[in-house]
Amino acid sequence: MARSGEQWWRDAVIYQVYPRSWADSDGDGIGDLPGITARLPHLADLGVDAVWLSPFYTSPQHDAGYDVADYRDVDPVFGDLADFDTLTSRAHELGLRVIVDIVPNHSSHEHPWFRAALASTPGSPERARYIFRDGRGDGTLPPNNWQSLFGGPAWTRATEPDGSPGQWYLHLFDTTQPDFDWTNPEVRAELEDVLRFWLDRGVDGFRIDVAHGLVKADGLPDSEFDQYTEPTALAPMWDQPGVHDIYRSWRTITDSYAVEGQDADRILCAEAWVLPAEALARYVRKDELHQSFNFEYLMTPWLAADQRATITHSLAQAEAVGAPQTWVLSNHDVVRHATRLGFPQTPGLERIDGIGTDDPQPDTAVGLRRSRAATAVMLALPGSAYLFQGEELGLPEATRLPDEARQDPTFARTQGASKGRDGCRVPVPWEADAPSYGFGPGDRSWLPQPAEYGPLAADRQRGAEGSTLELYRGLLRLRRELRLGRGRLAWLDGFPDDALAFTVTSPDGSVTVLANLGETPLALPEGSTILAASEPLELGATLTTDVTVWLTT
Ligand code: GLC
Repeated sequence: MARSGEQWWRDAVIYQVYPRSWADSDGDGIGDLPGITARLPHLADLGVDAVWLSPFYTSPQHDAGYDVADYRDVDPVFGDLADFDTLTSRAHELGLRVIVDIVPNHSSHEHPWFRAALASTPGSPERARYIFRDGRGDGTLPPNNWQSLFGGPAWTRATEPDGSPGQWYLHLFDTTQPDFDWTNPEVRAELEDVLRFWLDRGVDGFRIDVAHGLVKADGLPDSEFDQYTEPTALAPMWDQPGVHDIYRSWRTITDSYAVEGQDADRILCAEAWVLPAEALARYVRKDELHQSFNFEYLMTPWLAADQRATITHSLAQAEAVGAPQTWVLSNHDVVRHATRLGFPQTPGLERIDGIGTDDPQPDTAVGLRRSRAATAVMLALPGSAYLFQGEELGLPEATRLPDEARQDPTFARTQGASKGRDGCRVPVPWEADAPSYGFGPGDRSWLPQPAEYGPLAADRQRGAEGSTLELYRGLLRLRRELRLGRGRLAWLDGFPDDALAFTVTSPDGSVTVLANLGETPLALPEGSTILAASEPLELGATLTTDVTVWLTT
């Protein structure tokens, strides 16, 4: 843990557990809270500071729990509140903080509020908690042209209690995820109370789902927004100025739980897919959130010029508002970086969509090598880093899942045009020789595990020299010893353009990082000692392509 009074989150490494897929205690093929508790020593041993749990709340699971029906309870598939309390206290005993997900943009259609909204009439207070509108024309056309992020229109027509076709409700995601109306004070009060409920149970913070989506532009105007080229705020459903008021208010709540002298800050981290970086930095101004995910970094190709540019301006934007930058390469919504980087890299933003059997397949060896090199760059960077379960094993995306097995609503809503996100959500292999690779006591697994997961199981890698698991452990140990997360980065001159070369210096030490993204082997600087390397490397050797090394300075 960070030392007292030091704002632990400024350099924390936070490990994301996707509860369905990490560890299954009861053999039903779906991971659960007792399973997580039993495996927590893996995280203590890995050397991370905190665990972030994706949603485990009561939910019909139409979007794997990001469709919440009861914000104050645990879904029976994952356990119960007592299991959550056990998990939290075990994590705390092991020195791990616990971050939970909060989903404030929308609820499940099974939430009592939404059921009440459907059972009431247009204009009622029950409807006013969601975004209901009359349709255009004779009422048969959606109120505007917005599209759901999962494909198809962002509006669904409700049936009125008397059985007649009625108003439409907005859902930026699945039909079963109606958007709340955040202009309604009742919505604000309710979600603030949910924050307090989990804070009172001892959580150390929240990851805020779709943090940039809560406020919609007045009048809900039509939009032809292009998310890859335009500033996000030009879209009437994203990054509207009003979201910042919400987070100022949330910050006063988390601040009220801080305990003087105990480094007990409770934190808020935004999942906000917002461009440009200046706009994203507004979420982490002093009186707002502590962190926001740096997705631009995640989407930056493994090309030296692009990496340098993203790292440089990411650091500058965060520093301008006094926040730590965050770094992330994988999560439950994108193709795992061991696979993403196995495709040819081209300038611009990276492909993050799911991959199917008919799609071009990655070069897995190249992907793994580059992902290890990229992680070795990331874990040296100043700020806080997020890891996604299984990346410490070098897990690739499952790119050949049968279509019948797919469960992400995106797949069905796009009629298969988008494969969806199941490929990164496949249950984690713990034991190479056990059924379901030790995910659960039996052989069940809610998504099929590919055969290549066996040799990558944690038990094969623990203690094995050169394994990805040992690489992560070593990097995390050094990062902590040298307090690199508190350091300052300086780029080094005199290296080829296709190399990344920088030092990070903290009050407790420093490191020189060299990454060779080019074809020509690179000589290591005279007199330096190797502290860590993303591939086995002898002193006096050259740095070959896609290898990162940490050196003494
Ligand atoms: C976020 C989550 C994603 C979910 C969506 C809707 O982007 O990370 O998994 O589908 O929000 O809640």
